[in-house]
Amino acid sequence: MRIFLATAAALAVLAACAPEKAPPPVAAAEAPAPVVATAPPITLPVSINAVMVALVDHASEPLWLDAYEPPKTEARWLDAEHHAYQMAVVGKLIRLAGTGPNDTDWVKDPDWNKMADEMSAAGMDALSAAKARNVDMLNTAGDRLVAACEACHKQFKPGLTSMGIYKSPNYPPKN
Ligand code: HEC
Repeated sequence: MRIFLATAAALAVLAACAPEKAPPPVAAAEAPAPVVATAPPITLPVSINAVMVALVDHASEPLWLDAYEPPKTEARWLDAEHHAYQMAVVGKLIRLAGTGPNDTDWVKDPDWNKMADEMSAAGMDALSAAKARNVDMLNTAGDRLVAACEACHKQFKPGLTSMGIYKSPNYPPKN
């Protein structure tokens, strides 16, 4: 009985503490003004012309050579995979302007972006081919790739490169 009473008393205390009803909602604080992102657009630290020579050309030439003379070792197939990754990514990279005098105009043009995407897609084809160790597929991907280069150069490449950066006539080296 004493235990019952003590428990009842404790319950009564608890009940007394419990709020009668939920407190009124606090008026929502005035929403702060949205912070407008003012970060400058990302640009490349070099010209698109330099990207062409150092990345686009450097990764595509070995792929065409591989299609012509298939890799004989695992290591060379892995190189082909890496070059294909590079092509797939650089097609997206050149949608950013660099330091070349025409870069900003080029990347604004929808045709440019379409052709750059096409080069990236051809790079993805080359990646599937290299992963499958399939030379026929690599040939088809190589054809798609060269068509992407040519289409864009026809429309956008000026007679002389804007910053005088030309590919080496001796790349890739013969040995
Ligand atoms: C989206 C357009 C575009 C695509 C795709 C493209 N290029 Fe270019 N490329 C250019 C432009 C524009 C220039 C000239 C840049 C300048 O002068 O500032 C250039 C310049 C070059 C140059 C340096 C100039 C020279 O003749 O040595 C090389 C090499 C080159 N591209 C190779 C390639 C190869 C190889 C591919 C395909 C795998 C390719 N490009 C795909 C637009 C493109």
